[in-house]
Amino acid sequence: MNRRNFLRLYLLAAAAIAIAPLVKPAIDYVGYFYNELGAISKQYLVANNTDGIGGFPKYKITNIKDFKSKNCPVFFFAYPLTNEPCFLVDLEAILGQPVPEIPNPYYGHFAGPLGQIKTIKGVGPNNSIYAFSDVCVHLGCQLPAQVLVTSDQDPGLDIQNSVLHCPCHGSMYLLKEGGIVVGGPAPRPLPMVYLEYDESTGDIYAVGTNAPYFSESVPRTTPQDNLLYDPRYDYSVPSNPACTKG
Ligand code: FES
Repeated sequence: MNRRNFLRLYLLAAAAIAIAPLVKPAIDYVGYFYNELGAISKQYLVANNTDGIGGFPKYKITNIKDFKSKNCPVFFFAYPLTNEPCFLVDLEAILGQPVPEIPNPYYGHFAGPLGQIKTIKGVGPNNSIYAFSDVCVHLGCQLPAQVLVTSDQDPGLDIQNSVLHCPCHGSMYLLKEGGIVVGGPAPRPLPMVYLEYDESTGDIYAVGTNAPYFSESVPRTTPQDNLLYDPRYDYSVPSNPACTKG
């Protein structure tokens, strides 16, 4: 092998090594999009239009007036499937200090526009509203985000620090830092839902997510598999039952 061919081979090998860590997450995310949002889920999507990031549906969650009128920092909704619970949370209302942006824990982990967002900015008048999946990435239990407002009866959240605890095996997610794992067996951060805010109308939209909701170790064939629902809450209609029920 001459020197030129050797250099070519060397460069090819170096490039392969450099991109190798990105290949699997990219494949996983493409699989998530096609399996979850394409093949199995047309009938379950919260909206069929695909104006969101990377082909996700763009879905109106609520209006800022409705969100604020209940004086409640947590608001449940479903996204991107009708039975995948998520929640809006006003971190400034909970923490008592501004949280205008959060570093995206999944930055660079996935191919396409979803993986290129370095910082997730809060929406709303104070840039303080964020959205997270309400499904634990360990084994799919529903997270008790309602304890943000009913903590006396349903302990499970350190409100001062915005730590959300999973009741199943104790995973803990720090919301103010993008749902990073601060305890328990969760293998990765709690996925966030990308939001858009229309200042002229006050409407808040979900437009994508920063990661798949489920761990790879929990493959699903239908949207219902492996989800443990809290029967007290119906996520198909955007609402905040925790505040109305107290
Ligand atoms: S399902 Fe949440 S810690 Fe196991």
